[in-house]
Amino acid sequence: MTNNKSELGERPLVNVEDLTVIFEARGNIVHALDTVTLSINAGERIGIVGESGSGKSTLALALGGHIQGAGRRSGGSVDVVATDVFTASPEALGRLRRGHLGYIFQNPIGTLDPTRKVSRQFFGTDGRPISEARIANVLEQVRLDDIPRVLKSYPHELSGGMAQRVAIAMAIEHEPRLIIADEPTSALDASVRLQILDLLKEISIRSGAALIIVSHDLKAVRSYCERVAVMYAGRIVELGDSKDVFAEPSHPYTAALIRAMPGEEGIDGEIRGIRGNPPLVTKRLEACAFAERCDYVLDECWHLRTEPTLQNNRWVSCHLASRGISARAAEG
Ligand SMILES: Nc1ncnc2c1ncn2[C@@H]1O[C@H](COP(=O)(O)OP(=O)(O)O)[C@@H](O)[C@H]1O
Ligand SMILES: [Mg+2]
Repeated sequence: MTNNKSELGERPLVNVEDLTVIFEARGNIVHALDTVTLSINAGERIGIVGESGSGKSTLALALGGHIQGAGRRSGGSVDVVATDVFTASPEALGRLRRGHLGYIFQNPIGTLDPTRKVSRQFFGTDGRPISEARIANVLEQVRLDDIPRVLKSYPHELSGGMAQRVAIAMAIEHEPRLIIADEPTSALDASVRLQILDLLKEISIRSGAALIIVSHDLKAVRSYCERVAVMYAGRIVELGDSKDVFAEPSHPYTAALIRAMPGEEGIDGEIRGIRGNPPLVTKRLEACAFAERCDYVLDECWHLRTEPTLQNNRWVSCHLASRGISARAAEG
């Protein structure tokens, strides 16, 4: 597969516009994504951060048209490698998934078939098994040692880190244009987490694939991703250059997440978590979802929906920021 951009022209690789996704099960409604807008260029590395339930995985899955079952799109569009995923034919969606996307999930053992040796886990876009020589080549690309032994192993015979390397090999075998890694290191020992992130970054740079890293680990996102999207209650509340965002957060939620990061504790040595919990969003937000947890709440935050505004090359969805005050500045 070539990496030429001709079919994209000047379009970004990913273009999500005003995407709203609702889950409805037994009468309970959750707005998992609320008017999410995000574009990603070819070869770019972007991190998505936010507490559990903020919509990160839903966004990651939506890129491959994987919103199914209780979930549905109630508005907006998702365009990935020139494919409109919500209107594409099953064939076009299949071509996108098998040809251009590579997903990596938290639990590599869950990705692998427990009944097959590694040498029998790989299938081409036509559904046929891939030759052992080609598999060995991809296993080399993910920096696995002793490849003959790995090929003969069953998933349970591999360490977590090795299994994740095999899962990454499966995700990149067809040379995807976009690699979507949803908490790729959360289930791994701390000692191998950075190795896996180093590997993903190396693959992205070498192959020109864009890389999305969904993570709880803000430090990892700061060092591995050029841009970061901070999600809260189904919305992107801040989006910008990751070094800038972490150095000078605009949204009070971003500032709170950074304060809650290990190693960023105050002089009293205490790690300050964020008080309260994220809300379960059951209808379209008509206020700021963070208001009840925010130290800088204004009158309008309780009854006026926030909208993303562009300030200094950064998108921020916050009434405080709309007044030109960043969270860091408000902290004084
Ligand atoms: N299959 C599903 N059925 C019902 N609700 C779901 C489903 N998937 C996600 N949700 C809900 O959507 C919201 C966002 O979830 P998710 O995207 O998994 O967040 P994150 O990955 O940031 O933890 C949560 O409130 C979650 O409970
Ligand atoms: Mg998730």
